[in-house]
Amino acid sequence: MEYRRLGRTGLKASAICLGTMQFGWTADEALSHQIMSESVTLGCNFLDTADVYSRWADGNDGGVSESIVGSWLARGSVKRQDLVLATKIRGEMGPGPNDQGLSRQHILNGVEDSLRRLQCDYIDLYQLHWPDEETPLDETLTALDDLVRAGKVRYIGCSNYPAWLLAKSLWISDVRGLVRFDSLQPHYSLVHRSEFERELQPLCLDQGVGVIPYSPLAGGFLTGKYRRDTVLPDSARAEGVRNRYMNDAGFAAVDKLEEIGLGHNATIAQTAIAWVLANPAVTSAIIGANSISQLQDTIKGADVKLTGAEKEALDEITAWK
Ligand SMILES: NC(=O)c1ccc[n+]([C@@H]2O[C@H](COP(=O)([O-])OP(=O)(O)OC[C@H]3O[C@@H](n4cnc5c(N)ncnc54)[C@H](OP(=O)(O)O)[C@@H]3O)[C@@H](O)[C@H]2O)c1
Repeated sequence: MEYRRLGRTGLKASAICLGTMQFGWTADEALSHQIMSESVTLGCNFLDTADVYSRWADGNDGGVSESIVGSWLARGSVKRQDLVLATKIRGEMGPGPNDQGLSRQHILNGVEDSLRRLQCDYIDLYQLHWPDEETPLDETLTALDDLVRAGKVRYIGCSNYPAWLLAKSLWISDVRGLVRFDSLQPHYSLVHRSEFERELQPLCLDQGVGVIPYSPLAGGFLTGKYRRDTVLPDSARAEGVRNRYMNDAGFAAVDKLEEIGLGHNATIAQTAIAWVLANPAVTSAIIGANSISQLQDTIKGADVKLTGAEKEALDEITAWK
């Protein structure tokens, strides 16, 4: 496994980050524990969760994924300091007006709830899940600065931020001497590019902000199990994947990944991960897995090194400029 610096920081994270959105939704606690243990065996030191995972699942009030990570950590088979543990705040965690958002109030309460569920006393990377238009950035950044100074959080990042807001946040941190965002978690894959590449990519490269894309397999579409004229695979996400990606452009991307993967003896999923990791702005790709075999397949994408010509050929197939 390759370990890369998170942007300008000295923190080293594995090129594959294990996402945990599936935990407590499509993977139960026992399977989730196995998946985390196997990821560590295979060299991952980077785990991504969020307070809201997975509130959309029936009977799930949120916090379930963090609690599953916490019960795994409590087993003690992995040393806490060997992991880079990332979580997020912003989503609705209860019925009250201050149970969501990025106010000082919700951040100071929310971090304690996350630490309790995670059964640890610090978070390596605390991320804002998406923007909160009702809270001034100064208020949010000051609360995060206090958390870093108190030792509860070590680095901060954001997710789903547009470039102008990330640039404004970096500017406020700079002029006010506050902790700054050292990572961005954007939606990014071979079939979802312009949102990140247009303005966020040059900004992150210029400012040394580490990039940790989510959904690098487009929710499973870039694995080859969604094909023209075949039945949908058995997946809770199949309908969403069909509506979003099952079109001529999407299938052309899958075909090209398959063709280029053959030269590396790599699967479609591994080649899709290799393409994300070939982007010089990217630190780690955040993958999701519902089984040990999915994890073992996808994670090997970190070992596949595309040539410049192969990267260009894939860039060309979903060119958007
Ligand atoms: N910041 C945000 O707003 C945000 C949003 C989404 C996700 N995330 C983070 O990013 C992580 C990954 O997101 P994602 O789940 O969308 O990533 P993804 O890697 O694009 O998709 C993962 C899904 O693809 C399928 N899959 C994975 N490997 C496979 C393989 N080798 N063969 C066949 N199918 C395979 C599985 O779904 P099936 O078994 O159902 O087919 C798996 O759940 C999440 O866990 C979360 O931590 C963040």
